[in-house]
Amino acid sequence: MTGTGRIAVLASGRGSNFEALCTSDLGSAAVVLLVTDNPSAPVILKARRLGIETVVIDPGPMRTTLSPTSGAHVSDILEGESIDLVCLAGFMRILKGPILERFGGRILNIHPSLLPAFPGLDAQAKALEYGVMVSGCTVHYVDSGTDTGPIVLQAPVPVLGNDTVESLSERILLEEHRILPLAARLHCEGRISVKGRLVHLTGLPYS
Ligand code: GRF
Repeated sequence: MTGTGRIAVLASGRGSNFEALCTSDLGSAAVVLLVTDNPSAPVILKARRLGIETVVIDPGPMRTTLSPTSGAHVSDILEGESIDLVCLAGFMRILKGPILERFGGRILNIHPSLLPAFPGLDAQAKALEYGVMVSGCTVHYVDSGTDTGPIVLQAPVPVLGNDTVESLSERILLEEHRILPLAARLHCEGRISVKGRLVHLTGLPYS
C-alpha cells in the first residue's frame, strides 16, 4: 500500500498486540512492517503467518535502551519504508534521541495501566500490590520520558478480589487489543490533535 497509513510495529515478545493491529479494521491504514530486537520472539512467527515483512535489529550494548546507532538505523529503515506511524507493542527498549526527533508525534505506545499510575515494567503487579480497585490500559504518544507522553485513549478494567497478575493481565490485554488499533486508526485518519500534553479526538461518539 502507499499513501498515509503505513504502520510499523516494534515488538520484542509474544506479539498479541501486533496481531490485533494486523487483524483489526484500520480503515485504509495497514501494518506493513515488524521491527524486533529479539531474534527468538514469538511475534516473528505471527508476522510470517500474516505475511508481514520483518526486520530483526541489533539493539546495541544497552540492556533496556535502543542505542543511538541502532535508533538511527531503525529510523532509516522506517523512512525507507515510508512509515507514517510507529506502534510500540511490547517493545522492551526505551527510545532516545534521533528516532524520537525523526518520528516525533508519530509513535504510539500501549501500556498496561491507567497512566500516570504505574509506569515502567510490571504495571499489573504494581497495581495489585498497591490495592487499586480499577486498573486498565493506556495508549499514549511517546516522548523522552518513560510512559509520560500525551494520552490518546484509556480503558478501565476493574480489579477483582481474587485477581492474580495473570488474570488481571489477561483482562487488561483484551482492552489493549481494542484501544491500540483504534488509536492507530484515529492517528492515520488525522483525527487526533495534540496541544502540549492535551489530546483532542474528533469523530468519536465521546469526543
Ligand atoms: C502488553 O501488556 C503491553 O501493554 C506491554 O507489553 C505487553 C505486550 O504483549 N507493553 P504482546 O507482546 O503484545 O502480547
